[in-house]
Amino acid sequence: MKTKLEQIYNDALKDIENANVLNDIDEIKLNYLSRKGELNSIRKNLKNLSDDEKRTVGALANEVTEKLYAALDAKYDKLYRAELDKKLQTEKIDLTLDGKYYPQGKIHPITQTINEITEIFQKLGFSLVPQEHSPEVETEYYNFDMLNVPKDHPARDMQDTFYCTLAENIVLRSQTSGAQIHVMEEQKPPIRVIAPGRVYRNESVNARKNNFFHQIEGLYVDKGITMGDLKGVLNEFTRLYFGENRPTRFRSSFFPFTEPSVEIDVQCIMCQGKGCRTCSGTGWLEILGAGMVDVNVLKGVGVDPDVYSGFAFGMGVERLAMLKYAIDDIRLFFNNDIRFLKQF
Ligand code: PHE
Repeated sequence: MKTKLEQIYNDALKDIENANVLNDIDEIKLNYLSRKGELNSIRKNLKNLSDDEKRTVGALANEVTEKLYAALDAKYDKLYRAELDKKLQTEKIDLTLDGKYYPQGKIHPITQTINEITEIFQKLGFSLVPQEHSPEVETEYYNFDMLNVPKDHPARDMQDTFYCTLAENIVLRSQTSGAQIHVMEEQKPPIRVIAPGRVYRNESVNARKNNFFHQIEGLYVDKGITMGDLKGVLNEFTRLYFGENRPTRFRSSFFPFTEPSVEIDVQCIMCQGKGCRTCSGTGWLEILGAGMVDVNVLKGVGVDPDVYSGFAFGMGVERLAMLKYAIDDIRLFFNNDIRFLKQF
C-alpha cells in the first residue's frame, strides 16, 4: 500500500510538472483527487488493513493529498500568469488606429422639412391630425364637394386629378385640404391642427413641378378668429422658418373654400429678387395659399358661422425646402441621387 501511494504521488507530481495549460490541472485533479480518483480507491481499501497499517497508510494518504493540492495550486498560479502574460502580449488594442467607416442613413430632406415645419406649428399651439383623418386616397366628397369646389371646376378635370378607374368618385387627393373636413366632422371648435402629407396632380414634370409633392394643411377655427390672426400666425411662421430678413408678401387670391383668400410669396433665393429662371423673372416664389374658411364649408360640417370663424392654409413643402437650401430643381428630391441626399 505504501509503495502504491508513493507511486501515485510520483506519477501525479510528474503529471503536474508536464501540465502546460490550465485545463491540464483540472484533469489531474480528476484523475488523482476526485471521488473516483486513485487516492480515493486506496482509502476505500483501508478497511482491509490491520489497525496499525490503517493508521500509517491513512496518515500517508492524507499527507500525499495535501502535498498534491499544494503542488497543483502552485502550478495553477504559474500557468495562469503565463496565460495572462500571453494574452496581454497578443491582445493589446491600438487606440490610435483609425476607426472603421460605417455609412449612416439619413432622414430625407423632405421629411426633415416636414418635421421642422411641424415643430414650428406645434410651438404655435397646433397639433397633428391623426393619419386616418388625412388619407392619400380620397373620395371626391372630401377632396372637392365639401370644400365648396363646384362640379364643373377646372381643378376636377381629368387633366389635374388622378381618378380611380375601378371605382367611381375615388381620387388620389390633389390637396391636403380634405383633412379640414375630416377634422371638423370629428371635432367641435376650438380646432387648431396641421396635417402634412403627399398629394398628386396629373401634370407634366419639370424643374418646378412634379406629379406628386407634399403639402402641410393648417386649420384654426374658434370664436372671433380674424384675418389678423391669419397674418400673425403665418408671418410668425415665415420668420421662424426663414429667419428675420427674408422678404415676404401677401397677395390676394382665390380658392373656393376660403373667402377672402391670399397667397404668400417669398423672395427668390436664387436671384435675391432680381428675377431669374426659377422664379420666372418675377423675383418671388409662392409658398402657400390661405384664407378665412368659407361660410359654406363651415355650414357643410355643421359649424355655425355666426358663432365661429377660422382660417386655413396649405403650404408646399418642396417649395419651402427649395427656398431654404437654394435647390433649383424639384426633381432632385425624387430621383434619390445619393450625392444630393448626402448633403442634408
Ligand atoms: N389647397 C390649396 C392648394 O392646394 C391651398 C389652400 C389650403 C388654400 C387651405 C387655402 C386654404 O392650392
